[in-house]
Amino acid sequence: MNINDIADKLIREHSLNIDEYEYLITNRNEEITERLRNEAVALRQKVYGRSVFVRGLIEISSYCRNDCLYCGIRRSNSKAQRYRLTEEEILSCCDEGYSLGYRTFVLQGGEDAYYTDDLLSDLITKIKSGYPDCAVTLSLGERSYESYKRLYDSGADRYLLRHETANREHYAKLHPQSQSFDNRMECLRNLKEIGYQVGCGFMVGSPYQTDRILAEDLRFIEGFRPAMCGIGPFITHRDTPFRDEANGSAELTLFLLSVIRIMLPNVLLPATTALGTADAIGREKGILAGANVVMPNLSPSEVRKKYLLYDNKICTGEESAQCRSCLSGRMRSIGYEVVTDRGDVRNMD
Ligand code: SAM
Ligand code: FES
Repeated sequence: MNINDIADKLIREHSLNIDEYEYLITNRNEEITERLRNEAVALRQKVYGRSVFVRGLIEISSYCRNDCLYCGIRRSNSKAQRYRLTEEEILSCCDEGYSLGYRTFVLQGGEDAYYTDDLLSDLITKIKSGYPDCAVTLSLGERSYESYKRLYDSGADRYLLRHETANREHYAKLHPQSQSFDNRMECLRNLKEIGYQVGCGFMVGSPYQTDRILAEDLRFIEGFRPAMCGIGPFITHRDTPFRDEANGSAELTLFLLSVIRIMLPNVLLPATTALGTADAIGREKGILAGANVVMPNLSPSEVRKKYLLYDNKICTGEESAQCRSCLSGRMRSIGYEVVTDRGDVRNMD
């Protein structure tokens, strides 16, 4: 295999086989990275121009019934501070967000049984009737087909559920036995079938990840064709079993953002908070590698320090307005413009 031939093929066909993806990752060098980055930016430019979409991220609950080994709000972390936002608090975040120019609200949280279908359905209906020009994205983990359907019928537009890893054995090393790879994958299929714009994704550099596994992730994404794909470096949390593991690399995350943009030119690709935590200008670099979405925090300031998925998370001391203007400034500094727009995916294929 020759790395230049593989890069040519990726650019030409938007697709590689698993061996080629693995080879590309393992043997990447500055020249190839630069080439793929230029191609990714050109494709993003063609589809989305210089617009960067923003999503107002509302972290609604730090309670979680799951015990993912990497996550700071895992059930077993007795040091985690738990909170949940009321309907009124969430609606007031939307209100503030709307005036700050957000047209997408992302409701994210641990898997918390407090948020029943009745409660969420009522909440989504209220958000959609109060802000009919806004999209509602949910990121609330694994639920039943019926639950996803009901929330969709209430008006939810999109759902983010990272697949975490496309490799079954790797999944089992990152999660307790009670959490199932098959169920996660089935949830993703169900969400798509119901009609959501679906986001999958994974952490870069999670413990036990290999280049081969990353290649499997890329093949999975290629086949699944998500509307969105969230990737960010794994970052340790001091009160989890992975506290002594190494952090994921911002450099590899940026490389993979370019590869994913080339693979799926229309995909919505966030430059994540984790990338901004791993590197002080990681989000800017993410956009310059092919990403086109940023997700500033819209949670009430009082709770931000309680939604700590990993150590040193950025934006936990800021107000919503500060995050919004900080990110607009950061995007402007690299020649991009945050837009007031729902930011739907452009027609796939
Ligand atoms: N509970 C929902 C779910 O499972 O999709 C949404 C919240 S969950 C905390 C959001 C994402 O955070 C996960 O999919 C995971 O990839 C990421 N995450 C968790 N712990 C992390 C860590 N230590 N470093 C980087 N990302 C992490
Ligand atoms: Fe929150 Fe910069 S985006 S402070």
